[in-house]
Amino acid sequence: MNTIYYRVTDPAADREKIEHAGQILRDGGLVAIPTETVYGLAANALNPEAVKAIFTAKGRPQDNPLIVHISDYSQVEALVEKVDERLPALAKEFWPGPLTVIMKKSPLVPNVTSGGLDTVAIRMPSDPVAAAIIKAAGVPLAAPSANSSGKPSPTRAEHVTADMDGKIEMIVDGGQCDIGVESTVITLVTEPPTLLRPGGVIPEELERILGEIEISPAVFASLKEGETAASPGMKYKHYSPAAKVVLIKGNLKRTAAYVRARDDGSTCVLCFEGEEDAFTCPSIVYGRKDDGLSQANGAFDALRKVDESGFKTAFVRCPDPTGVGLAVYNRLLRSAAFNVVELDTAPCVIGFTGQTGAGKSTVSQWLGKRGFIIVDGDILAREAVKQTDVLAALAECFGDEVILPDGSLNRKKTAEIAFSSPENTAALNAITHPAITRLALEAISSAKSSGAKGVVIEAAALIGSPIMSLCDLIASVTAPAEEREKRIIARDNLTVEEARRRMSAQYDDEYYARHSDIIIKNGSGDDFTVYAEELIKAVDALNEGV
Ligand code: TXA
Ligand code: MG
Repeated sequence: MNTIYYRVTDPAADREKIEHAGQILRDGGLVAIPTETVYGLAANALNPEAVKAIFTAKGRPQDNPLIVHISDYSQVEALVEKVDERLPALAKEFWPGPLTVIMKKSPLVPNVTSGGLDTVAIRMPSDPVAAAIIKAAGVPLAAPSANSSGKPSPTRAEHVTADMDGKIEMIVDGGQCDIGVESTVITLVTEPPTLLRPGGVIPEELERILGEIEISPAVFASLKEGETAASPGMKYKHYSPAAKVVLIKGNLKRTAAYVRARDDGSTCVLCFEGEEDAFTCPSIVYGRKDDGLSQANGAFDALRKVDESGFKTAFVRCPDPTGVGLAVYNRLLRSAAFNVVELDTAPCVIGFTGQTGAGKSTVSQWLGKRGFIIVDGDILAREAVKQTDVLAALAECFGDEVILPDGSLNRKKTAEIAFSSPENTAALNAITHPAITRLALEAISSAKSSGAKGVVIEAAALIGSPIMSLCDLIASVTAPAEEREKRIIARDNLTVEEARRRMSAQYDDEYYARHSDIIIKNGSGDDFTVYAEELIKAVDALNEGV
């Protein structure tokens, strides 16, 4: 199909284009129209065949009902069983505008329009181009958002073109939508009325007219990271780019540390104006921090940009869910498929490493006395290879000889085989790393309830390991080589040759400096507590966000 594209800025000046759109709609065609919320994909709401074409063009499930758009209050009566007595007051206050009201439907409304329900959703857009097209069509228009089902809603004509070009008769470009998120949906069928979808009209405004209203639990419903959807409605991912979206609740500093640790080079962040520099990965600004309307304006566009720029993961700063921000929060929650990370209540995680003999344990014991939980990475690694699935995978990969008669791992044999070639080492890591990460996450989440200042994960081979991606901060302990040599000779009863051999496999100070946020110097001439206090200050700053 050849899609006609019109740009209309002033409906009075562009009368012919408006009439043309009205004609197509009367004839059962589809026209994408601008509204003050998002672009709508319109068809004659009373023509079942035309409405079916909407579902086809969008790839939308047929059981999802559509909103019926009117241009004049007098159109309501024919669409409903009975005009609710509260409608006039609502209409006076909010129509035309971003409010959709659900009432019992009349037989005039086809089942395909109402998704098989006995109710109808009605809204009167305030956008002058939308109003003019509805009027020109002479019939109420069913219009869902003009995006492919599941994708972010379109707030500019180019978004519509990206999803609908060639699939519909006409696209009318009226510029950027004023609000940027879909209308508020309230049903008057329940008592008290229930807010089904937050939007430009906020709950407090509705309560002023209606008295008490209920907010559907689905508005806030969220799952913790890792949990699976319990209710069927949550299986639907909405407003989503192809990239993975993760909503982050937490202060800017913690969020930046969290994102940095997980940046794999195809990661971006959706943040507020002025925050760009806090992030090491590319950022897409979607609004101002304390301005829900500006966030509504930018959110869907920002989500689309994630895919356009080829990012695979987008971490999103969580908006304050009040005022119009509630609608933004509700949409972002769904675009993230309820994948929310709560940093405010999570302990700060410090990855702790350093050269052999530098004194990691001395420093971490000191940190333990200062309110940190210490997790020994070596113990995690040893625990990981006790797990039956890990043992089975190792036997499968390296042969039964790596399993001792008592069923436990022959660590010596495993090390011999695994470190005999880079391929074998990679195979060992691929098997053990996920288990180690799982154990580390368990240790972190159990520390959460203990009220600890933070969790210190001590691991010699931390840098480049998967545990590093769980850490908000990396700290390394270093000491002069001669001193480390003396220490390990005394500690492990080594000869000088043995000590030197072990130390030759170690990285130098520069390596640790490059990969750490904080260096804790622990030579005999140093007072390590001075540096460790710096670490504590950095943790406090992350927790407080300053
Ligand atoms: O701002 C808007 O409302 C935009 C513009 C184009 O007007 N339209 C829009 O339509 O967002 P759509 O189809 O994407 O969303 C309609 C929402 C859906 O969540 C649908 O389930 C709900 O309204 N809805 C429609 N009729 C309903 C009914 N009878 N009962 C319950 N929910 C209904
Ligand atoms: Mg939609």
